[in-house]
Amino acid sequence: MQNTPAHPETPTGADDPRCVPHKLTAPLPVGAECPYPAYTADEQDVWRTLYARMETLLPGRAADEFHLGLLALDLEKHRIPALADVSRKLQAATNWQIARTPGLLDAHDFFSYLARRIFPCTDYIRARHELDYTPAPDCFHDIFGHTPMIMHPRFANFYQKIGQAALACQDPAVEEGLTRIYWFTVEFGLIRNPGGPRIYGNGIISSSGETQHSLTDKVRKLPYRPETLAAQAYDIWHFQETLFVIESFDQLEQEFVRWARDHRLL
Ligand SMILES: [Fe+2]
Repeated sequence: MQNTPAHPETPTGADDPRCVPHKLTAPLPVGAECPYPAYTADEQDVWRTLYARMETLLPGRAADEFHLGLLALDLEKHRIPALADVSRKLQAATNWQIARTPGLLDAHDFFSYLARRIFPCTDYIRARHELDYTPAPDCFHDIFGHTPMIMHPRFANFYQKIGQAALACQDPAVEEGLTRIYWFTVEFGLIRNPGGPRIYGNGIISSSGETQHSLTDKVRKLPYRPETLAAQAYDIWHFQETLFVIESFDQLEQEFVRWARDHRLL
């Protein structure tokens, strides 16, 4: 089961070592155990550039809950945040922590951390020539894109339940459905808003092209129902043609729990 999608509209990065999932042989450092890397000035500038871009693009497009999470995290704009600091803020808000991962994790390892309310997070940043595209998640994707939603109590509970359900899953067909639910919520989810749909999925938020495309009429937007998501195939190499809109994060969690219980995963 894939834990994080490749970004759409991009070439394959299959031969990039960052795309090879790690099977863990020792526990990851968590929270205060995560050291702050010796970033170069150029790496710090890549963070500043990416942050400034998204600050321009996301108002009026991203969900209120994403903006509130970002505000509460008070992420540094001019310097790559320390995982230990982000972890401390998450722990105070929703009792989640951050573990430092060397890259993509084996799916079972990844979900076992989510099930314990620990988000495996990279601490390296993409190169300057990869501003628009990186073949595997970096710390801008993971910190800027994912952690604001984990500040939301209901999303945080939903995300843990995804991990718990994945660990309980034995049936490949159900596992495929769960992968699709992850894709169309955590990575490509939209939420209803009186002014029109807003983005909470990080596969969209971390792609400026997908951010602009996702809210146009070119994308079919369907109501969130786990059964529908589980039956909807997706294409990781192109902009999404179909997205799903939740009514609220309460609905996201409640409906997922119902689906997972129907499949004896929770
Ligand atoms: Fe992701």
